[in-house]
Amino acid sequence: MKSLLLVANFKSHKTVSEAKTWSQEFEKNFKPAPGKEVVVCPSFTALAAFSDTSFKLGAQDISPFDEGAFTGEINGIQLKEFAEYVLIGHSERRENFKEEDEVLRAKVSQAVKEGLKVIFFVQNALQIVPEGVEVIVYEPTFAIGTGVAEMPENATDIAEKIKDKNPNVKILYGGSVTPQNIKEFTELTLIDGVVVGGASLDAKEFAKLIELA
Ligand code: PGA
Repeated sequence: MKSLLLVANFKSHKTVSEAKTWSQEFEKNFKPAPGKEVVVCPSFTALAAFSDTSFKLGAQDISPFDEGAFTGEINGIQLKEFAEYVLIGHSERRENFKEEDEVLRAKVSQAVKEGLKVIFFVQNALQIVPEGVEVIVYEPTFAIGTGVAEMPENATDIAEKIKDKNPNVKILYGGSVTPQNIKEFTELTLIDGVVVGGASLDAKEFAKLIELA
């Protein structure tokens, strides 16, 4: 049986106290299963609120620079005190913060330098994937937060194209994944897991989704 990577992306949601409540509720409902690795990506402020969890932690962003005079940035050395993974290339960063290939490459390189595992998002099979990425997420923009997920056969088609160019990476699907449709994606041969936004904000729902994966 293949192993699955199940990633929660909280985006810009949850205070520290909400994150703690989420964690307690998740632990109550979560049934650990072999072959299912869970990674939770809260905001920077809540990263330190999670300790002794049954899940791993990821950051939602990383500075493209080394430590130094870069006001507002959180660098790889700081991140690795809390997180094992980092999300890079999400379409919300590309669109709202105008992140393009050059800055994304610099972010990946900082993450790799500090030993963080990169979960890199692409919105189609043509986008550039920098060297050092271990996990690629196919996440079409039309499917994000809309309740309209990609057709599983299209996800396979894109995953095939990504795999051709990046044979050693894991490929995840993201976009409107719910407990109702999770299995349609995790049962695809080329899909090694999912990234979940909206449906991860409710701890019980996310625990259920993992159970059904
Ligand atoms: P969604 O978001 O599950 O709410 O569609 C996924 C994501 O943007 O990572």
